[in-house]
Amino acid sequence: MTKKILVIGNGGREHTICKALNRSPQNPEIYNFASAINPGINEIAKKIIVGDIMNLEELKDIAKKINPDFAIVGPDDPIGIGATDALLELGIKSFSPNKKCAQLEGSKAFTRDLLAKYNIAGSPDYLVIKTEDEAPKNLARNFFDKFNGQIVVKADGLLGGKGVLVADEHFTTFEEALEFAEKSVEKFGRVVLEEKLLGEEFSLISLVDGITVLDTPTIQDHKRAFDGDQGPNTGGMGCYSDENNSLPFITETDKKAAHDITVQVMKAVEQETGSPFIGVMYGGFMVTKNGIKLIEYNARFGDPEALNILPILETDFVDICEQAINQNLAKIGQLKFKPVATVVKYLCPEGYPTNSVKNVPIQVSKNLQETENQQVFYASVAEENNEIILKGSRAIGILGTGKDLNEALKNCESMIKNFTGPLFYRKDIGTKELIQKRIDHVNSL
Ligand code: AMP
Ligand code: GLY
Repeated sequence: MTKKILVIGNGGREHTICKALNRSPQNPEIYNFASAINPGINEIAKKIIVGDIMNLEELKDIAKKINPDFAIVGPDDPIGIGATDALLELGIKSFSPNKKCAQLEGSKAFTRDLLAKYNIAGSPDYLVIKTEDEAPKNLARNFFDKFNGQIVVKADGLLGGKGVLVADEHFTTFEEALEFAEKSVEKFGRVVLEEKLLGEEFSLISLVDGITVLDTPTIQDHKRAFDGDQGPNTGGMGCYSDENNSLPFITETDKKAAHDITVQVMKAVEQETGSPFIGVMYGGFMVTKNGIKLIEYNARFGDPEALNILPILETDFVDICEQAINQNLAKIGQLKFKPVATVVKYLCPEGYPTNSVKNVPIQVSKNLQETENQQVFYASVAEENNEIILKGSRAIGILGTGKDLNEALKNCESMIKNFTGPLFYRKDIGTKELIQKRIDHVNSL
């Protein structure tokens, strides 16, 4: 019998997920519940149902009709409100965590307190301030002073990547930090203050089933909108990994330290919530002078990180998801990835992220031809009257792969030339100069 898989979401990440499922020798039928039709998913899916992916009743109605073998919930928001739990009410299992486990992403306080309670190393010094605390202003003041203002203020809920303020980048005075902290307490009942760590960040995405943790290549994302790490924070402008499926500035010891944190956190989540974490644990880590520190966990694939990882995955992704759902991930053994370097860049509408041009078409060259080394992923665009229309967020992700970073970068850049219109992207991602800067930074710690 042909397997049916329901994928929820329609960004670049979900396009990549659908493509990876579609490569499976099992030839599954892919169904997509989406806020809009993704032109890339449209070429792959058996059917796309457009609706409100945050409406769990609607999700259940659709899932009941399709009756998939399993589901994958792509974005954090539906995972966070319990899409996995809603599907399970129908007996449909997902390669995504349930609502309780997804607190790992949804609540910064949950995660920091979990690490503290289960004695897991890797957290910076931190303080959670709650609505019911007496004199919260004094608590905040003392913490601020303890670190000479070098702190990070984290809202305790999902704010679409806008929930974290870092000293010297987003605020300088105590009053500014306090104002944001008070807003978070008002909205979420809590705020987390953390010591600001110095170092180089990387992502380690692991596929987990509550028992086994299988790592994917380590990746580095670029959050700032413009070259030279300038401009506002974004969802991520692009990522790279080298031909060793790793990064030039991290060691095997660093990777093992990050892996060990994920293993311990996975187990702690089950002890704390009573349910195993099944799905993706995406750790944001930092190499610091005091070793590997955890910045945060996400409970889903990274976007763009997924665009680097899934296209070079050689293990059958359908098999991985099914084994994970049944807590048999150990059967997969190691994940196999092609030994190639990857560079992904997002083409974004001019003005992104604060003031994007929208609802205008871009031009796609008639000569565009995808290969294994040059792939295109559609994100915040729509196809209308045979035109690709910008919808305001990151528009098109371009993947280049190659025998080394130089070749991967060249393949990425030459594919980008196929797209014209009111778009911009970061030229510096994946370049020798920027990567050397990262290596020098780590060496200077
Ligand atoms: P998060 O949403 O927790 O990943 O935070 C967003 C960004 O804020 C991270 O990618 C880091 O660049 C920065 N950040 C978060 N926590 C810290 C910290 N404790 N020290 C330094 N930077 C941080
Ligand atoms: N690349 C950042 C994220 O997916 O959250």
